[in-house]
Amino acid sequence: IRKRGKASASSAGCHPRHVLGTRRSFSSWRQQSPWKGHRSFGTEVNHAAAQHKKSPKADGRKLNAWTQWGELKECVVGVADNACFPPVQPAMIPEINDPMLRKVLGEWPRGRKSQRCVDAANEELDNLVNVLEGEGVKTLRPEVMDWSQPLNTPFFSVENQYVACCVRDTIITVGKTAIEATMSRRDRYFEILAVRQILRDLWREDPEMLWKAAPKPSMADDMYNLSWWDWTEKDRYEHMHKYQYCITNEEPLFDAADITRCGKDIFVQPSMTCNYAGIEWLRRELAPQGIRVHSAHFPYDLAPSHIDCTFVVLGPRLVLTNPERPIAERDAAFWKENGWDFVDCGQPDNPERPAFSQSSKWLSMNIFVIGPSKVIVEEQEKGLQELLKHRCGFETVIPVPFRNVFEYGGSLHCSTWDTCREDNMVDLFP
Ligand code: ARG
Repeated sequence: IRKRGKASASSAGCHPRHVLGTRRSFSSWRQQSPWKGHRSFGTEVNHAAAQHKKSPKADGRKLNAWTQWGELKECVVGVADNACFPPVQPAMIPEINDPMLRKVLGEWPRGRKSQRCVDAANEELDNLVNVLEGEGVKTLRPEVMDWSQPLNTPFFSVENQYVACCVRDTIITVGKTAIEATMSRRDRYFEILAVRQILRDLWREDPEMLWKAAPKPSMADDMYNLSWWDWTEKDRYEHMHKYQYCITNEEPLFDAADITRCGKDIFVQPSMTCNYAGIEWLRRELAPQGIRVHSAHFPYDLAPSHIDCTFVVLGPRLVLTNPERPIAERDAAFWKENGWDFVDCGQPDNPERPAFSQSSKWLSMNIFVIGPSKVIVEEQEKGLQELLKHRCGFETVIPVPFRNVFEYGGSLHCSTWDTCREDNMVDLFP
């Protein structure tokens, strides 16, 4: 469990009001848990039943998030500890994004990232925790694990794992259900274990919570379209309009960040990290709860992965859209018919991608809406901050420094997992 001194919240651009925000750590949560010290699972279950009889709402803690905009009460913020470079694998050839850098380096780095780079990211992640706490949001952190360990399964091996920074990719709250994603990359197969203790605690404390884990995929070679990496740009353009990427449909595959929530309706993007079988799995699991699972297509993204830099739901009937990745016309019509408005995001103020980043300049759009009128934005993205204030009706726009986290594959939305928002199953597509 992560134990670090209180982070400095004084980095430039930090909202002054948040400097005093105290951080309540994951461990302090656990100490309050009525289950502390119980070892036997069976006993705990019986104990849980007894507790619930006495006080049906032990401490009122619950898992709940139907939307992207409900008042945020509790969330998990990722950690960069022990981060490693992603190894070459069928779902990812990291050096492909930086042919120039590859030339300069000669060999693409492997194994652990430098401590300096980990510390810089952690400082910004810790500061985000302070900002959230200052806004009255309870925060939890993943367990610190050693990602430099190799993985060997019956179907694949990788030389090391990745990092538990982009928690958004591994798990999602849909209403009262936590869904562990299958993941799509081999080096991220067990990343979910970093939040398992949080899931266990929540599940014990909230008698209504449902906890689902999507079937663990084999991630055998036949789940990947290995030739994708050899396609020319022209080949990729042709396949992109058919939504064919580097994964096949052999088994359900999805990262949780390919999903966005609008109450009764959730939208999932077919991508490099999510296949149609994955979307179908979600549909079958969630239909009995009355949740409608739709797909959302972005035909101009050559290598889409994770919807949160492409199509960012800001509030009821309002979406921040990516001018270079418009949603497919047929999908757009469905939103428009239901009265939704799209606002195009401007070009990033800082379009630079840090070295070794696997993401695009559009991490600028990866903002974190923490309430109906409150949003956290990377501090350098002034244009977007203005847009959110003046065009999208946000009263509070909180700038935080976050560019040292970009290298880990995400920004403010990616590195969080909302466990509790004050919202409900609204029907905005009646
Ligand atoms: N693939 C996206 C882009 O390059 C970045 C997505 C980051 N999101 C996430 N949840 N990790 O624009």
